[in-house]
Amino acid sequence: MKNWRVPYFLLLILLCLSCTPSGNDKGMQVGFSQAMSSDNWRKEMEKSMQVQSSLYPDVQLEIKNANNSVERQIQQINDFVEAGVDVLIVSPIKSKPVTTAIENATKAEIPTIIIDRNIDGTNYTTYIGANNIDIGRDAAKYILSGAKNPVTVVQITGDIASSPAKERQLGFESVLSDSPKAKLVATINGDWEKPSLIAPLEKLIDTVVPDYIFAHNDRMAMGVWEVLKQRDLQDSVDIIGVDGLYGPNGGIQYVKDEILLATILYPTGGAEAIDLAVKIFNGEFVQKNNILNTVVIDSVNVDLMQNQFNK
Ligand code: FRU
Repeated sequence: MKNWRVPYFLLLILLCLSCTPSGNDKGMQVGFSQAMSSDNWRKEMEKSMQVQSSLYPDVQLEIKNANNSVERQIQQINDFVEAGVDVLIVSPIKSKPVTTAIENATKAEIPTIIIDRNIDGTNYTTYIGANNIDIGRDAAKYILSGAKNPVTVVQITGDIASSPAKERQLGFESVLSDSPKAKLVATINGDWEKPSLIAPLEKLIDTVVPDYIFAHNDRMAMGVWEVLKQRDLQDSVDIIGVDGLYGPNGGIQYVKDEILLATILYPTGGAEAIDLAVKIFNGEFVQKNNILNTVVIDSVNVDLMQNQFNK
């Protein structure tokens, strides 16, 4: 009797192992190569991915943070490809240098979702994010709609090697150049973070104090306000930013505090990227471009937006 019980017992263990998720029976592996995790917008993106992933019991999400190093991001993408993830999500730090790594993932037949920042070309499965050309256009139209007399404008760009900066600049300048009501007097090339604009802006306002400053994100817009405040110029210039994050250090609060005249909501797309990954994994059809809606937030709708986010 005892002799046949041992293999029977082993069989039971094997059966149980095959039912429980383990390292081998992995469900659906999603690898996310994040450009950096240093700011609240990125943190929000990751949080929404994690929350959305938790709604799908089979999804295993792994986030690798490249910490703003292109080399590290390429390595991390290669590692995900080598590990054979089921779906790869990437927010490329810069467009050009990350393109080949994404193309290699595509060659290895790993479905790839590009989020927020784009690569060169269209060699990926699908893109999710807002239309950054429209964001630039909306900022310019907003300035024009509030300008009774011809006004002067300064633009502070994000890192121009990353697609949102290039596209926001394109949209912004195309609308302004068509109008006699606004003159773009200077463009400062920032890098998405405050310190990049301080010295050039200080130098600029020695000679010209514009009516409006459009900064490509709210963190740099806050930097603009701090520079102006030091010279007691904060009430002479209207500042417009992008991102419209909810929370104490977000654009919505800055609009409420009248630090910014307006911010343009730039949704992170984190939750939507996970939904797309699941669809792709299940063989469902997805669009090549998944464009998220944006909206200008100013004193007129800021309470409404805050209440919406509160919920
Ligand atoms: C966050 C961020 C945002 C900006 C986006 C552009 O890291 O700098 O502020 O809108 O990236 O990719």
